[in-house]
Amino acid sequence: MAEIRVAIVGVGNCASALVQGVEYYKNADEDEVVPGLMHVNFGGYHVRDIKFVAAFEVDKRKIGKDLAEAIFAKPNCCAKFADVPKLGVEVKPGPILDGVASHMKEPFNIYDESKIKPADVAEVLKESGAEVLVNYLPVGSYNATRFYAQAAMDAGCAFVNCIPEFIASDPVWSRKFEERGLPVAGDDIKSQLGATILHRTLVKLCIDRGVIVDETYQLNLGGNTDFLNMTVEERLKTKRISKTEAVTSLVPYEIPTRIGPSDYVPFLGDKKICYITLRGRKFGNLPLTITAKLEVEDSPNSAGVVIDVIRAVKLALDRRVAGPLISICAYSFKHPPVQAPDPIAKEWVEEFIQGRRER
Ligand SMILES: NC(=O)c1ccc[n+]([C@@H]2O[C@H](COP(=O)([O-])OP(=O)(O)OC[C@H]3O[C@@H](n4cnc5c(N)ncnc54)[C@H](O)[C@@H]3O)[C@@H](O)[C@H]2O)c1
Repeated sequence: MAEIRVAIVGVGNCASALVQGVEYYKNADEDEVVPGLMHVNFGGYHVRDIKFVAAFEVDKRKIGKDLAEAIFAKPNCCAKFADVPKLGVEVKPGPILDGVASHMKEPFNIYDESKIKPADVAEVLKESGAEVLVNYLPVGSYNATRFYAQAAMDAGCAFVNCIPEFIASDPVWSRKFEERGLPVAGDDIKSQLGATILHRTLVKLCIDRGVIVDETYQLNLGGNTDFLNMTVEERLKTKRISKTEAVTSLVPYEIPTRIGPSDYVPFLGDKKICYITLRGRKFGNLPLTITAKLEVEDSPNSAGVVIDVIRAVKLALDRRVAGPLISICAYSFKHPPVQAPDPIAKEWVEEFIQGRRER
């Protein structure tokens, strides 16, 4: 099988976990159960078939470095779980656009665009032979996400949108990819076992057991730059929509809901803490309350999911399937083009892998 040539925009904590994960599982046995992957062999592609070929950043501590080094540069704080050998991929300066909020200029240590010329992103993608561009920009990067999505199309690359900007789930953008003959997957990656999937499971359990859900909230705390960036409410609009719809889409009536990032606690580093509360009524209109607390290492939590998504996108490229990939999007993203309960979405993906579903 051919390799899968992947480019990354935003070499932050999620990129670190992804690059480390590909190294960590490169020799995984095909019969092995790897926590966080659907399959070691996903439609004929092994984890080690993923090859990183280009990366874009705005942080001076990462630009010009080999990707294997840049993933461990500050302010990244993702746990180190793999020794990544040099990859021969120099991190290039990407256009800053609205990727960096004013309160993030210092933490991201951004380069001076008047002194260093940003790379021609489409050109770098073409030269590197990238087939898939993975978007890991900060939340609130409206223009930057659209810029990189366009550059991906110009270079003939598929696009994996891990952030809550609506591209795969936006009919205009997904049609652009379809017309260009390229697959697109998004939006806003789900974690292996994160706040969203836990909250969805609790809500679904209540609905399936005939409990009336009256109200629910989900509070999230963390200490990485993703959480620092999200302390500004104006960057959070789509994140709240994405996280909220992932839960409310399972409830057949409206309920008061509050879901989103809640605070930045610097000493938590890459640890994320989530509190979920759900109040409802059961037989006799008697009250029921569920409270749950989840503590996880944040960034590695979605890396395996992205490894599966990249391989699903590659299958679509092989099969010349263009536009939004309904099954992998429903299973792996919070704001997909079509929402589905997780077990159904999982079946769809298995059918897609076997070629029994087009998308
Ligand atoms: N942790 C998870 O599991 C998870 C789940 C869902 C969504 N996400 C989203 O994935 C994204 C990445 O998360 P992260 O934890 O890696 O964040 P991060 O803050 O560690 O990384 C973002 C990186 O983007 C860089 N950047 C900013 N503007 C840029 C530009 N214009 N061009 C190139 N690079 C630029 C920053 O310098 C930084 O290194 C965030 O939007 C996050 O909300 C993460």
